[in-house]
Amino acid sequence: MSEIIINGGKRLSGEINIQGAKNSVLPVLAGTILCKGNCVVNNCPDISDVETSVKILESLGCKCHRDKNTVTVCGECVPHYEIPEALMREMRSSVVFLGAIIGRNGRAVISSPGGCELGPRPIDLHLSALAKMGVTITEEHGFLYCNAEGGIKGAEISLGFPSVGATENIILAAATAKGLTVIHNAAREPEISDLADFLNSAGARIYGGGSDTVYIHGVEELRGTEHSIIPDRIAAATYMACAAITGGEIKIRNIMPSHMVAMLSVFRESGCNIEISGKNLTLKAPDRLFSIPQIRSQVYPGFPTDAGPVIIAMLCKAEGNTVFSENIFESRFRYIDELKRLGAKIKTEGKIAVIDGIASLSGAGCKATDLRGGAALVTAGLAANGTTVIGEIQHIKRGYDDIVGTLKKLNADINYLNEE
Ligand code: UD1
Repeated sequence: MSEIIINGGKRLSGEINIQGAKNSVLPVLAGTILCKGNCVVNNCPDISDVETSVKILESLGCKCHRDKNTVTVCGECVPHYEIPEALMREMRSSVVFLGAIIGRNGRAVISSPGGCELGPRPIDLHLSALAKMGVTITEEHGFLYCNAEGGIKGAEISLGFPSVGATENIILAAATAKGLTVIHNAAREPEISDLADFLNSAGARIYGGGSDTVYIHGVEELRGTEHSIIPDRIAAATYMACAAITGGEIKIRNIMPSHMVAMLSVFRESGCNIEISGKNLTLKAPDRLFSIPQIRSQVYPGFPTDAGPVIIAMLCKAEGNTVFSENIFESRFRYIDELKRLGAKIKTEGKIAVIDGIASLSGAGCKATDLRGGAALVTAGLAANGTTVIGEIQHIKRGYDDIVGTLKKLNADINYLNEE
């Protein structure tokens, strides 16, 4: 099993491009199932979750071709309706394939995604919305059997919580349903707008994607199209946190600053100077960061839960105490025990983490517990004195396109150990 080794303490400097968004590319690849024509998806990051999505498409009978950052999905095949259990287990967000498979086939069989490293991830909102759209769902022995024999019907749906995954699944199922679907209290994340833009370019009629009310007029069928994935705002924040904790100065290219407002204000509050010019951003960190009295993760446009771990890692070396409250997932703090191996002083209780900033961290052996928690260890390792070795890096590879190569470009002393 490969690991990441970091000799910490080097100030980061230099320029990098930001990869395409993981949380956008997965639903878009799922959406290609609905299209009766070739779909060319550009700016796909080279991450294992994309590999898994391609495997799912192939297991459904779709021919896929990958050339660098472009994935082409052939629209001539008629996809099957069952996702193999092993692939469902590899990537819990594979539940987003559900809406697309039912939309195309009128039925789907998937294994229930169950719990995961961030705590329980229920899909009741997805299922009750699909039921409203005429889908009969039965659960047996851990499998979900979904049928819409009479076709999927548009419906008026009000989400009890603006769930990203449920909003995506409803949009996918509704794109080729009969009639109008309206989603009230929809998730407003930029990745929802990206999915709507992709589907609209294939002939869908979706209005209001990215706002709290989305209108989907079902169309007869979708055609092939070409689409470019939006930049990954969480990857951007990760590299910014890596630079900030080392007192560095970096330029990141290919971002959408308007998607990052809540995160940018946290970096500014911590003492970083940030300048934006179009799709480029320069961050210059002070010698010592300031703590931030209160950060709360919230739905977009609030501070994203996915950026919490790297910001917490960054603030481990700030001056003073930070209180972080995690309001989206129940158990997102497992990586904090690993951060403590590097000397971090953090106390957690329920959804609250209190970070007591210290002057220096020290390198240690640790393990990634999940994707963003792994990125937090990389962030801390870059600023720790001595050597940090991070295991279980398959979690990190799920979402970061060559994190080691990217940080090397920024002058970090970081390498893979025993690379497979
Ligand atoms: C979440 C994040 C998203 C992030 C993604 C990947 C939010 C709101 N969502 O999306 O930004 O990119 O993880 O890490 O920040 N829930 C239910 N029933 C459901 C669906 C969700 O109770 O049917 C609850 C979940 O338990 C959780 C919350 O709603 O507490 C957020 O869920 P949701 O937005 O659906 O999660 P993801 O789509 O995974």
